[in-house]
This record gives sequence, structure tokens and C-alpha cells, in this order.
Amino acid sequence: MSSAVDNGVRVASLAGAACFVLGLHLMNSPATARRGNQLSAFGMAVAVIAIIVSVSDGATMDAGRWGVLIAGAAVGAAAGLYSARSVKMTAMPQLVSLFNAVGGGAAALIAIADYFHDTHPSAGNATATALDVIIGGVTFSGSLIAAAKLQGYWSGSISFPGGRVVSALCALAAVGAGIWVIAGAHSELVLLIVIVAALGIGVLMVLPIGGADMPVVISLLNAFTGTAVAMAGFVLENATLTIAGALVGASGGILTKLMADAMNRSVLSIMAGGFGTGATGVDLGAGGSGGSVKAIAADDVALQLAYASKVIIVPGYGLAAAQAQHEIRELATLLEERGVEVSYAIHPVAGRMPGHMNVLLAEANVPYDQLREMDDVNPEFDRTDVALVVGANDVTNPAARRPGNAVSGMPILDVDHARSIIVIKRSMASGYAGIDNELYGDAKTSMFFSDAKKGLATLVQATKQLVG
Ligand code: TAP
Repeated sequence: MSSAVDNGVRVASLAGAACFVLGLHLMNSPATARRGNQLSAFGMAVAVIAIIVSVSDGATMDAGRWGVLIAGAAVGAAAGLYSARSVKMTAMPQLVSLFNAVGGGAAALIAIADYFHDTHPSAGNATATALDVIIGGVTFSGSLIAAAKLQGYWSGSISFPGGRVVSALCALAAVGAGIWVIAGAHSELVLLIVIVAALGIGVLMVLPIGGADMPVVISLLNAFTGTAVAMAGFVLENATLTIAGALVGASGGILTKLMADAMNRSVLSIMAGGFGTGATGVDLGAGGSGGSVKAIAADDVALQLAYASKVIIVPGYGLAAAQAQHEIRELATLLEERGVEVSYAIHPVAGRMPGHMNVLLAEANVPYDQLREMDDVNPEFDRTDVALVVGANDVTNPAARRPGNAVSGMPILDVDHARSIIVIKRSMASGYAGIDNELYGDAKTSMFFSDAKKGLATLVQATKQLVG
């Protein structure tokens, strides 16, 4: 490569990496997050162009290689564009999981190709290759299993006798064969052992994890993807790839820790399995329709809300599934006009992805200062007239305060401390963790059975008619 082109490529790569860092910083606040995303995408475009210029400047490219490069980029870009545009927000975790699988798999493939290409790698390069294949392989198979679980092909914890022994054997095989690779072995069989063992670890790690712990797993696999990509950067001696991978790995790692803390879990215990796997919560009777559950009509809900001094809205997955963010905002505005103090209680894992409720409510222009985090809002439920739970279930389940069930130990919103609780959902069906919610049997709770969008629209009309 001529030195002028070489310098230009280096400067462009550095500029791309700077865009990633600045973009990530802008994502700190909902107000600047969109700009942060755009800046990161721009940085990625600059980095891709720099790579294309650098490969086209050498003598290694011929028509066939260009064909493969262009076809791969076109298929990848079309699939990415289509999935990003068509995916429903509630299916975002599955998509993120598939992207994690693709990222981890691609990083592992780079290392595998390099292993055969470079027959005398340095110790540093061989170490990066071994780590890349192990982390990329674990991420690939683990993320595919996670995506299938999130899509609902399987649910809960799946374990089989001797699962832990097989996991331990896979880990031993991956580490042993990996050390062999680092020591200089150049054998297809050794690499195959690393690949198969890593794929096995991914499958066996994610299968037993269930229920409320899945969000932490997705975040952890995201951190793995970043780490695998950073390793691929070392293998290819590409600084941009290393920086981008390190950023994803570090931010994914921090998010994993924050989410695990918010769920009152340790990351190691989640990876070891066994959490989020318990049997049932309170028994509310056959089909969950136990006698203690009380239904309420729209007019009564409207009156309770209109004559309350303080209302806390608890949004959950059902609000997103119904796309009822505009209706909840309209109801809240109506109440505020009557002098009711309204805020929204946001649980860290409400919905199906980190920040799901924040993104959803921002779409309806709910003011940020009305969104209250769990630790901040929980003491206020004691002074709240009505807690209006809209499509949230697990994050309000008092069964979490007791051991032995699928949500045990998970911090919850203290909805049951409010003077009156109104729950909007369609039926007595359970939430993501698959257990009944004992909040529904509470004497202070009334169930307004409805789709969230239709129900909230009815409540807006009822409020207008009854109290003007
Ligand atoms: P869930 O416990 O999943 O409960 C959602 C409730 O919404 C369901 O019980 C359902 O009851 C109701 N619903 C569904 N569609 C509705 C509609 N159109 N209108 C009204 N209600 C509707 O939700 P949550 O309380 O938000 O808890 C989130 C759960 O997901 C946690 O267990 C969490 O661990 C898990 N999870 C979270 C994430 C992240 S990072 N946020 C990622 C993956 C998994 P009906 O069917 O009776 O209506």
C-alpha cells in the first residue's frame, strides 16, 4: 500500500473509532441517543470505506474476491435493513440475539480462516485465535438457543441428567485444545475440538437458564460478541475492529452487571443455571381465575382515577404489545389537567429489552421527569391512591419476596403498598416467568380485563364523560 493511502486509511479508521466512542457517550441520555446512534453508524460507514480502500490498494484482490465481498455485503445489508425495519419492538431481544450469533460466529470464522492461512503465528496471535474461536463459538450457539427461547419455541429452564458434567467436559476440552493451539499445534483436529467444545458450552450454558434471567443472558452474550470481535481485531491486526469490539464488550459487561444487580442475582449464578427455574407462585385456582379475584368496570376505574390525588402508572410488556403508549399518555394528561399527580414507575426489566418502557413512552412524548426508576419510586407507593398497572405482571409479583419460585429474589415494584391497585390486562394469563401473580388476589386489587389499547381508549372516554 502506498504511504499516502496507508496514512489516509489510518486516519479514517481513527475517525471511525472516535465516532463510536462519542456516539456511545451521546447514548447516555434519551434526548441525545438518536444522534449517538447516527454518529456511530456514520463511524461504521467510514471504517468500512477505509477497509475497502485498503484492500483494493493491494494486489490480493481479483474479480472473484470482489464478487464475494460485494455479494456478502449486499446480502448482509439487505437482511439487516429488512429485519431492523420490520421487527416489532417486542421482538427486539430475539433480533439482538440473532445479531449476537452472527457477530460471534463471524469473529470465530475469521480466526478459523486465519489459523489455516498463518501456519507460524506469533504466541500473541495464536492466543487471540484460540480465544476468538472459543468466545465466538460459545456466543454463536448460545445466542441461537436464546433467540429460539425468546421466540417461544421453548420456554423456561431445560436441563437433563448429567448436563453439568457434559458442560464441565466441554469446558475442559475447549481450554485444553485452546492451550494446544497457543503452544503451536497446527492441526485441523485440535481446532475442530475447540470449535465443537465451544459450541457445546454455548448450548449447555443457555438451555438451563429460564424465566426472569433471560435479559441478563442476552446482555452477557452481547458482551461476549464484543470480546470475540475485539479478538478478531487482534488476529487481523485491525485497530478499528479491536476498538469497536472492546467498546461493545465493555459496555455489554457493565450492562450485564447492572441488570444482574437489579435482579438481585450474581452473573456467575445465572451462568451456572438454576435461577429463574422454580415452579409456581401463588395458586389463584384453575386457569388462574380463583374466587378472590375482583373485576371492575371502566366507569369505576375512571372515577377512582379522576378523584385520586396521586396515581402511579406501572407499564409492562402488555403496553408495548398493544402499542398503547399514546392512549396511556392521553389518559395521564387528562388526569393531570384535573390536578392529579401522575408518574410512571419503570422496572429495569419491564418489557422485553433493556430500556423498553423508556423507549416506548418516549415515542408518545411522555416527559422524562415523569419516568421514575424502581428504587426511587418504591417508597412512594405507600402514599399513592391508585397504582394503575398496564400490561405488567412479573415485575409486580409479590411472590418475588418469597423463595422457591421463578421470580424469587427479583426486586419488584411495591405496587401492593398502594391504597388501591387497578390492573389492565386481557385475562388471568401469567407473564414471561410463567407463574401466577398473587397481586391479583389482593383485596385492594381490581382487574380491568381488556386489551391495553382498547381499555385505555375506553377509560379516556369514560373519564371525559363522567368528570368532564
Ligand atoms: P410480563 O410479566 O411478561 O407480563 C406481561 C403481561 O402483559 C401478561 O401477563 C399479559 O397478560 C399482558 N398483555 C399481553 N398483551 C397484552 C395486551 N395487548 N393488552 C393488555 N395486556 C397484555 O411483563 P412485565 O411485567 O413487563 O415483565 C417482563 C418480563 O419479561 C420479566 O419476567 C423479565 O425478566 C422478562 N424479560 C425482560 C427482558 C428485558 S431486558 N426487559 C427481556 C426478556 C425477558 P394477558 O395475556 O392476560 O393480557
